[in-house]
Amino acid sequence: GKGQYRHFMQKEIFEQPAVIGDTLHSFLNPATLSVQLPNLPFDLSKVSRFTFIACGTAFYAGMVAKYWFEQVARQPVEIDIASEFRYREAPMPDDGVSVYISQSGETIDTLAALKYAQSQDQKILSVVNVPESAIARSSDAVMPTQAGPEIGVASTKAFTTQLTVLACLAIATARARGAIDVARERELSAALTEVPARIAEVLNHDEAIREISHDISEARDVLYLGRGTLYPIAMEGALKLKEISYIHAEGYAAGEMKHGPIALIDEAVPIIACAPSGPLFEKTASNLQEVHARGGKIVLLSDKEGLARAGELAVHTVELPKIDPFVAPILYSIPIQLLAYHTAVLKGTDVDQPRNLAKSVTVE
Ligand code: M6R
Repeated sequence: GKGQYRHFMQKEIFEQPAVIGDTLHSFLNPATLSVQLPNLPFDLSKVSRFTFIACGTAFYAGMVAKYWFEQVARQPVEIDIASEFRYREAPMPDDGVSVYISQSGETIDTLAALKYAQSQDQKILSVVNVPESAIARSSDAVMPTQAGPEIGVASTKAFTTQLTVLACLAIATARARGAIDVARERELSAALTEVPARIAEVLNHDEAIREISHDISEARDVLYLGRGTLYPIAMEGALKLKEISYIHAEGYAAGEMKHGPIALIDEAVPIIACAPSGPLFEKTASNLQEVHARGGKIVLLSDKEGLARAGELAVHTVELPKIDPFVAPILYSIPIQLLAYHTAVLKGTDVDQPRNLAKSVTVE
């Protein structure tokens, strides 16, 4: 049941420290701060290319992972949504591994894309939340998420546990390819180990985020901005808001604003910026400056340092703990989930069972 919570989605958001901890437990040794994967039916040091395929929120998890694999492991990665990939007739490389990310493990397009990759002699690895699912059964190897049953149609804990598994796989790949040394592996593992506690801190901002949702609930359109691994989080934020509150939202790479979307900006369009301090912060801050100059109402999600630098551009801020930029996309998922949740509650929609949507999309 929902216990003390009003909706399954809310319960599942608050379960994230625990289920991320459980997921880390299966792939990361906290004593040695090293990742330990199950035996894989391919050599991680010799994968020519990973191809990540998924739908919806799971696709955004794959997008974050692409940044991780490229930056941390220097590993080439391609990514596509399953409904495009399955019909694209894409050539696939020798020694390629194709990774299928799916909460349910039953999404029909994702399964069909898997069959295509199989026909192209790719090794198949899946990241699923349901170990007995069709996608899991069709895979050469499975790295399960330990999210437990996810009832709310809007994916929350499945997403952050997918990110957790993919982060461990990225570290293991980096190690196998000699892209990182033991010290760096320990640093990245330590950053991951800290995530459950940092998420618990962010969950304490629930009430402040609920306050912000009053302004969001009055908007017709909302823009989410991010750079690097926070770009997919911006898109995930927009998807979450539209699917449960029915408010139109788009996620953009902050650097794309001046190539079109900045034309939309006026006092009526809230801009949610996902911008931890770090190498990309100054770039995002100057995009926010441009938005501010055009009257845009900015909600800035950042840490102490970021808020000190750009907080005065915002009408609302949420201060997140300072963490290693590697794990920032996991942490910044939390405020965008809470913002969508509270906005939908204010709008009075059916949060757990939004109109026109099914939890598992088993028809095309
Ligand atoms: O079960 P799957 O992870 O394969 O589902 C994929 C998408 O249908 C799913 O993530 C969908 O986008 C969610 N409703 C988003 O919250």
